[in-house]
Amino acid sequence: MHVSFNLAADLDPALKSAALAAGLPDAAAFTPEIRTADPKHGDFQANGTLGFAKARKLNPRAVAEQIVTALPASIRESYDVSIAGPGFINFTLKPAMLLAWLRAYSTPAALTAGAASAHAGQTWVVDYSSPNTAKQMHVGHLRSAVIGEAICRLLTFTGAKVIRDNHLGDWGTQFGKLIYGFKRWADPVALATDPIEELERIYKLGHAATPDDSPELDEARRELVALQNGDPESVALWKKFSDVSLAAFQQIYDRLGIRFDYNLGESFYNDKVGRVYSELLGTKIAEDSAGALVVFHDEHPRFSRNTERPNPFMVRKADGASGYASTDLATALYRTEHFGAHGIVVVTDFRQGDHFEQLFLTVKKWFAAKHYRLPELHHVTFGAVTGEDGKALKTRDGGTIKLKALLDEAEERAFAIVTEKNPDLPESERRDIARAVGIGAVQYADLSQNRSSNYVFSWDKMLALDGNTATYLLYAVTRLHSIFRKLNLPAGDTAQESAASPLETSAELTLARKLAKFPDAIRLAADSLRPHFLCLYLYELAGEFSAFYTSDKVAVDEAPVRARRLLLCSRTLLTLETGLHLLGLRTITRM
Ligand code: ARG
Repeated sequence: MHVSFNLAADLDPALKSAALAAGLPDAAAFTPEIRTADPKHGDFQANGTLGFAKARKLNPRAVAEQIVTALPASIRESYDVSIAGPGFINFTLKPAMLLAWLRAYSTPAALTAGAASAHAGQTWVVDYSSPNTAKQMHVGHLRSAVIGEAICRLLTFTGAKVIRDNHLGDWGTQFGKLIYGFKRWADPVALATDPIEELERIYKLGHAATPDDSPELDEARRELVALQNGDPESVALWKKFSDVSLAAFQQIYDRLGIRFDYNLGESFYNDKVGRVYSELLGTKIAEDSAGALVVFHDEHPRFSRNTERPNPFMVRKADGASGYASTDLATALYRTEHFGAHGIVVVTDFRQGDHFEQLFLTVKKWFAAKHYRLPELHHVTFGAVTGEDGKALKTRDGGTIKLKALLDEAEERAFAIVTEKNPDLPESERRDIARAVGIGAVQYADLSQNRSSNYVFSWDKMLALDGNTATYLLYAVTRLHSIFRKLNLPAGDTAQESAASPLETSAELTLARKLAKFPDAIRLAADSLRPHFLCLYLYELAGEFSAFYTSDKVAVDEAPVRARRLLLCSRTLLTLETGLHLLGLRTITRM
């Protein structure tokens, strides 16, 4: 029996060839439209017969019947096939097929090998986190990091070579004021103990000391020009700012399981914007506007020159300076040429929507004019982080919440919960569990909500032991580990699993069906770049497992029954762990 990882994907070509074999008129145009079915009707459903038949004035039920009769033997071997309603074709996996699937996908490596197809061999650059240097990361930096990392892992799982690129905001006018302040007020002791805190303090002083139209501001501007002209002392200072910033960021990234391949910040593109200017001018995509270089998109209602308040894409400012748009244009070209990107994903707050819409429109015209290969361009946006009152999340005195403090609090709160549940574990172990649970709770709460909505931050909800939370799922994982611990058996022991008898009870079959839908959930999450689809699946899977565990005893005497139930336990464990790792969480074996 042939079993591919993504069962739904197999049905599509089988139905197309059945339509041809049945000799339907215009059969080559038939698209089966395979969907995951409502479990009441089966596992998968083909909806395409309806539209196909209607457009050709055929009877949809008759068309469905003809296709079903012509289905290849392999499909009939694996599925019970029925026709429902006006002509839907329903496919229900046979128990033997379910068992074969569970046997075939028994290790993380098998799952990965099976999943690799959608993006196989492609290179995807993912630009996420990307904070500005010389400032601490705060709660507003959480989502890009967490969502971006999950997307990297999902794309890797589906076969892509992923390049993680931290596009640091490490260039701009603020460095004039920072250097100005640094030269006057830097405190070496503070710089050694908490460098970023100190840089923030210095910047505030520098900013306050250089009001508009003051001679001090002129001095700060001279510092900026010196930096831009490569003055060694200024460049050394600036380099120091970047280094201490990255070191501080990395402490946060370590806690979130993030490691970048590149930190190519805005400054990296300083010497690459000249080519952007000349090519956009040469192709007449950009035009001069009072000394500035701008791009209008006249086909677009908001970016056209014919609007009340024109809002062009500012490729070069009137004073000759580059900016966010210039570097992002150079970045798109670099990622295409240097990394050979097939896809580029940038993860930021929804408020940058206009910028990326203009950027992508410009890149498309530019690459077409120059005959450059155009990668897929995706701006992955997310909503704000708010408190339960719907307002921006702030400290009690109205300040911004530092990301470090937020993660510390998550671990502390999780430690209290773990200690209450399991006071006898040694403290070091409780601390380790609390790290996984606390950080996992923050990550999962972010990922489990549709990213387009605001992320409503609630400690009580994210740490709850019930509901669609990390705590619940991590607990389910530990419960599965304890089943194997108690029986003194390893999970996924194939020798013992080979004794399994065919799946029988309805709880067994329901759980097995859910397990075989893992590829569907991955595909949905990876293709839409929306990790919450995977979260929802894992939550439902944990629920099916609970139902199974309540109704069917695992450690029964009858060896073949016990073997098949242990097989279900070990695949549930594998799937939950694999899924949680794909989301960036760390799993634990006891809690
Ligand atoms: N540094 C920017 C910010 O803090 C985000 C950069 C996102 N990436 C990009 N290629 N523009 O808002």
